[in-house]
Amino acid sequence: MFTDNDITRFRSETAGVKNVIHLNNAGSSLPPDVVRESVLDYLQEEMTFGGYEVHAKYFEEIEGVYGSIAHLLNANADEIAVLENATVAWTAAFQAIPFKAGDEIITCQADYSSNYLAYLHLQKNLDVAVKVVPNDEQGQVDVGALDGLITNATRLISIVHIPTNSGLVSPVEAIGKIARRYDILYLLDACQSAGQIKLDVEQIGCDMLSATGRKYLRGPRGTGFLYVSSRVKEQLIPAVVDLHSAEWTATNEYRFRDDARKFENWESNFSGILGLKKAVDYILGIGIDDIWQRIHFLGSSLREKLNSLDNVSTYDVGEVQGGIVSFGVDGRSAVEVKNHLKKYGINVSWLGTPNARLDMEARGIAEIVRASVHYYNTEAELEEMVAKLKLL
Ligand SMILES: Cc1ncc(COP(=O)(O)O)c(C=O)c1O
Repeated sequence: MFTDNDITRFRSETAGVKNVIHLNNAGSSLPPDVVRESVLDYLQEEMTFGGYEVHAKYFEEIEGVYGSIAHLLNANADEIAVLENATVAWTAAFQAIPFKAGDEIITCQADYSSNYLAYLHLQKNLDVAVKVVPNDEQGQVDVGALDGLITNATRLISIVHIPTNSGLVSPVEAIGKIARRYDILYLLDACQSAGQIKLDVEQIGCDMLSATGRKYLRGPRGTGFLYVSSRVKEQLIPAVVDLHSAEWTATNEYRFRDDARKFENWESNFSGILGLKKAVDYILGIGIDDIWQRIHFLGSSLREKLNSLDNVSTYDVGEVQGGIVSFGVDGRSAVEVKNHLKKYGINVSWLGTPNARLDMEARGIAEIVRASVHYYNTEAELEEMVAKLKLL
């Protein structure tokens, strides 16, 4: 558990907390100073000495990002590809699955909209079926119902760990047991969970996992990664090929790399990748279990404070709830609430139906205000937010 001194130190290492009360960590977190400084220094050197030359100078350190991410996930470094964001990572995995007509994809109500659009897009060309697992009475994937949906045609189980629009934490390990039992590919969208909660790919049992750098990992924008288990990498065929992902072995022949980096391409934002490494190392240094404990505590505390207001309703569901707090204020649009708080230097965001259509429609919620806490936030900041909400 973090002490008050720990929190003071984390805040002293995060310049942004002096300017804003940042409760938009599910959008893009405030990076620790070590991340900002490494990105700025690297860019400065690139501009001064040349991109290729500076890459060569920092080669070993940049390459270390694979080991750092692998450590975070309990994976191997050769099971990691570093990409531009979670969407690119997720799509690289999804498009590499050799679907055929008649295959079934099983997803969950809380799935991210872009993922669902990818299923629809695939359906345009191929006769695949998409099944959505119903929620149980607590609002999370009904694991028994998932078991019942599986047929011989089920090709993929695709689940969001923590959705974009609520504090829900999906029962990913129970889902993984089913995926393993039936030997079905399991793709986990860990975009909001990476850096928020422990991710152990062996315990979860997923085959592929996608994440972004800028959210709970506190890395730079425009960074992300994909984990592909060595169990399944042979059966996944990247949609994109270039000189980095494959070797041109003879005029009419090529061979993909053996590791997960077959999902990357050659050109990359190396200042961002270095920053991502620093961000992951920073988390590893602090400890993800304590981070989750603190986020869970602050999330619950904020829900309690909001629920004590007569005109506010919180919408989070699920047995376990994390740092994304979703709520509405009677008679006020979500954007009004967001703009009101912004006037006082308090950052929250808002989401409408298109961000998580299945979930929002099923629960009859048109829009939400999203206040997403991280471990460096304080109870005093939450109190300040609630005090300012009362002025609305
Ligand atoms: C659950 C979830 N999945 C995927 C994404 C897409 O992430 P990115 O913007 O890094 O591509 C988001 C972004 O908000 C998200 O919340």
